[in-house]
Amino acid sequence: MAFTVDINGTLRSVDVDGDTPLLWVLRDVLGMTGTKFGCGMALCGACTVHIDGNATRSCVTTIDSIGDQKVTTIEAIGATEAGAKIQQAWLAHEVPQCGYCQSGQIMSASALLASNPHPSDSDINDAMSGNICRCGTYNRIRAAIKQAAEANAG
Ligand code: FES
Ligand code: FES
Repeated sequence: MAFTVDINGTLRSVDVDGDTPLLWVLRDVLGMTGTKFGCGMALCGACTVHIDGNATRSCVTTIDSIGDQKVTTIEAIGATEAGAKIQQAWLAHEVPQCGYCQSGQIMSASALLASNPHPSDSDINDAMSGNICRCGTYNRIRAAIKQAAEANAG
């Protein structure tokens, strides 16, 4: 069945079953491999994208559930104000280690910052608790989010 979805501001048409996860569409149909597969069960956060600005696990989001909502992926997050600040802070703090979880981390962090410009520690914990990092970069992630939030002060 054909579905047309707004991905990063471009309408993309794909011919897949309606229960195909968005993650599969992004990676296998559209070749957008920045969004990662980790668990496939909404347990790790590696596959996080934004749907209408909300951090969403694309591995458990079927293509037929998206409708006219707007999908944003790691490939375009740097074009958003919050995403650009998060990416700059990530570079400044040299957050990634192996890097595998990091696109999901950045998507969750940028959704947080877009909705809450000055998050508290508990806000950060709540927003990021579903994003697992096997390399243990959590302290640098927290520091980078705080720096990005400070950039909102002016
Ligand atoms: S791959 Fe989607 S949450 Fe792990
Ligand atoms: S940087 Fe390696 S899993 Fe997070």
